[in-house]
Amino acid sequence: MVLPEEVAARVLAETVRSRTSLRDTATRFFSRHPELDYMKPVVRVLTLGVARNYILLDRVLTSLGYGPASHSTRWMLARTLAYEAISGKLKPSRARRLAPRAGLDPEKILELRGADPGEFVRGLSGVERLSVLYSFPRWMIEELMEAEIPELPKLLAALNRDPVRWIRVKPGVDMERLRERLGRQGVVIEPDRDLPDVARIVSGDSMAARTEEYQKGLYVIQDKASALVSWVASPSGKVAVDPTAGAAVKASHMAWLGARYVVAGDVKPSRLVEAKRTRARLSIGHLVDLVAGDARSPYLRRFDTAIVDPPCTDIGRLQYEPEVKLWLGRGDLHYFRRLQLRIVSAVAEAAPPRSTIVYSVCTLTRSETIWVVRRLLERHQELELVEPEPVLGERPRRLPRSQRLLPHLHGTQGFFIAKLVKL
Ligand SMILES: C[S@@+](CC[C@H](N)C(=O)[O-])C[C@H]1O[C@@H](n2cnc3c(N)ncnc32)[C@H](O)[C@@H]1O
Repeated sequence: MVLPEEVAARVLAETVRSRTSLRDTATRFFSRHPELDYMKPVVRVLTLGVARNYILLDRVLTSLGYGPASHSTRWMLARTLAYEAISGKLKPSRARRLAPRAGLDPEKILELRGADPGEFVRGLSGVERLSVLYSFPRWMIEELMEAEIPELPKLLAALNRDPVRWIRVKPGVDMERLRERLGRQGVVIEPDRDLPDVARIVSGDSMAARTEEYQKGLYVIQDKASALVSWVASPSGKVAVDPTAGAAVKASHMAWLGARYVVAGDVKPSRLVEAKRTRARLSIGHLVDLVAGDARSPYLRRFDTAIVDPPCTDIGRLQYEPEVKLWLGRGDLHYFRRLQLRIVSAVAEAAPPRSTIVYSVCTLTRSETIWVVRRLLERHQELELVEPEPVLGERPRRLPRSQRLLPHLHGTQGFFIAKLVKL
């Protein structure tokens, strides 16, 4: 009989091999093995736990004489057992059954039960200590240090926890009535004090996409930091574009904020299919057109405001997808920042005078964010950085006319937002 730890190990190894999300790999696995469906919640907890703590787990295992660490299924099983042991949840019978399959001595693994993670970083300091304790690759820690994130250890700890979830509510929907109706279905929400159309999910987030109100398009599940981007774009009465629109979450928000017309584009047909679904559920087909196109070559020229939300390292979303830490490298970072600069430069070239461009990314590395804005301003003298209002985040010292939202300070995803005007 297969056990959840073994499934977790397979899902983890396959996720790293295919560089897809844990969620997608698990969905594929369970659709092939519907008889194991009951394991889903345990496998989810185990895979998230291992992905969030993998460097620490490797140090624990190597201190016991095992290794070298790898992303093989066998090593993933070793990590999973060490994770369960340290969390105090590994049963002796299970350890005895599974440890040999991972090449481990069950008794040694059982001795880890309830151990304090701090024990395993004794003697380490600086970048090395942060890297092991919070299980972030060294280069990511260095990048975040260069970005001068306040209280960095708290950010790293927050990125290793489950996220606060948020919804964005359709204009005209009474927030209080929605709160009551969702409350009756077990989804407790608390209206946000900063953004009038945003509410925090206090509890019941697993039900949030299953309510009748959701199906009817009365709200969208969207992080507060992501919702802030469309507020900064201030699209009311304007023609708006979003050439890297993905599922059209921000584009749909611009429609709800009163944009006269929105064009949402993406290079991937699969993303446009998602965008189509968003558009249909929110009944905004009369306002939003979808276009397949490559944002590196300007194809949208008539607009008043643009959101450019290009692909990034996603470090601000690690709460949702910690598995990214297992494969992302500096090479990816350089690829993403060049791509971001190409896309936002192309939009700047096509932009008419007096139009605005909001550049946003769900990451915090200085090599994306500030570096991209600086290069953009060097290349395009006709662009001016303006206040990204409303400002709800903190101001990076090296680019004070921008804002960053930080999980440990703002309870949101990590996000960077800058606003530019073409003179
Ligand atoms: C961060 S996501 C956008 C999320 C979206 N703004 C939202 O709020 O739902 C970035 C998107 O850029 C798309 N993309 C990547 N390269 C592109 C390109 N050269 N041109 C257009 N879209 C691109 C990806 O397919 C992805 O959907």
